[in-house]
Amino acid sequence: MPNIVVVGTQWGDEGKGKVVDILTPQVDVVVRFQGGNNAGHTVVVGREKYVLHSIPSGILHPNVRCVIGCGVVLDPASVIEEMEGLVRRGVTLDGNLFISKNAHVILPYHPALDRASEAKLGARRIGTTGKGVGPAYVDKAARVGIRMADLLDEKLFRDKLEWNIAQKNRLLREIYDAPTFAVEDILNPYLRYAGWLAPYITDTSLLLSKWIDAGYDVLFEGAQATMLDVDHGTYPYITSSSTTAGGAATGSGVPPTKINGILGVAKAYTTRVGGGPFPTEMKGPLGETIRQRGNEYGATTGRPRRCGWFDALVLRYAVRINGIETVALTKLDVLDQCDTVKICTGYRYKGDVLTEMPAEETVLQQAEPVYEEISGWMSSTTGAKIEADLPAKARQYLARLEELIGVPFCMVSTGPQRAETIVTESSPLTRWYPAVRSSLL
Ligand code: IMP
Repeated sequence: MPNIVVVGTQWGDEGKGKVVDILTPQVDVVVRFQGGNNAGHTVVVGREKYVLHSIPSGILHPNVRCVIGCGVVLDPASVIEEMEGLVRRGVTLDGNLFISKNAHVILPYHPALDRASEAKLGARRIGTTGKGVGPAYVDKAARVGIRMADLLDEKLFRDKLEWNIAQKNRLLREIYDAPTFAVEDILNPYLRYAGWLAPYITDTSLLLSKWIDAGYDVLFEGAQATMLDVDHGTYPYITSSSTTAGGAATGSGVPPTKINGILGVAKAYTTRVGGGPFPTEMKGPLGETIRQRGNEYGATTGRPRRCGWFDALVLRYAVRINGIETVALTKLDVLDQCDTVKICTGYRYKGDVLTEMPAEETVLQQAEPVYEEISGWMSSTTGAKIEADLPAKARQYLARLEELIGVPFCMVSTGPQRAETIVTESSPLTRWYPAVRSSLL
């Protein structure tokens, strides 16, 4: 079985949701392996609109099992709200949703610390989603975190909570001058949440191992993206998890030897939410035009996304770090009305042209993009069924991008609907999922 990982290649919001939605009917299991309710996507099925943050959208397919892996940090109140919304609309969770015992819990002091820390950072703030994801990963690495399994052990949970609240209250009071927490105010509701979630909490790594041995096909659904990875992203302007393909193994407990392919998702341009360097950012009215055409507003926070040109350095880097074999390119149609389209091929820094992603924060901040310009196609690409349906100049754009990033496109998306997707001729995707092309016709 292919057991493919889908990862974002830029700063998130590349349209992974649509790609995963297309691939889900081809697999048996979908696994989230990192991040928390900082992620978010909206899925429209018929007239129903679902907004999901922690639960894979695979849950909307009755024959697909969904796993929230050990690498995820889970906010019980938020996930229960998602679950209740799904149940109300007739979605079956029992037997289809599995939560890792090892996943860490986001507790109310985590969002409080997240927001207090951001306020204190001033101009150096990260622009987090404020969901407490970073502080929950801090506790995990500091070995004081509370895991889903701990929630089910009242005495252990109380002990850990008391210890944590004592520490966090000092931080909140003395460093941040922020309100503090009382143990009982958290303990009681969280014990109730534990009761609610108990039937879903299990050893998901063991389950996945059994399923893979039985021949089930697993899709690993990345959240956020390569440039937000805690190790490989634009540190410190990153999220706190391993968003890259390696994270699929550690964040699920499935060994790398069982994973057989990596698919990257990239937008035909670039966006970023929050702070941090963004060399190809469009300044001025063009950025606003692209934001409007691409509806570039965050699904979790509603914040306007910063928009920029396609950055081939970023993509080449993502291909290398993740081992990406093929890329699904999304939102080509958003560029349909641009008279000129730019591609960043390098960064100018102190007289040199860099062709590899620099690690230093200051270098990236000062880097000037070197652009190649091609004239726009100025006609609609929406609904093209095969590559030959695309305007010649759009095909030229795609060919140049493929040449620069070094791997072929497997899909090109030209609109939000499933049918607005081209599965390319040379697509490795059809080797992994032979029925995917016909599923879109
Ligand atoms: P955090 O993950 O809330 O700590 O935020 C850290 C950085 O990651 C901020 O710049 C966020 O805007 C960004 N971020 C987190 N989740 C997403 C996402 O799902 N899409 C895009 N950016 C995200």
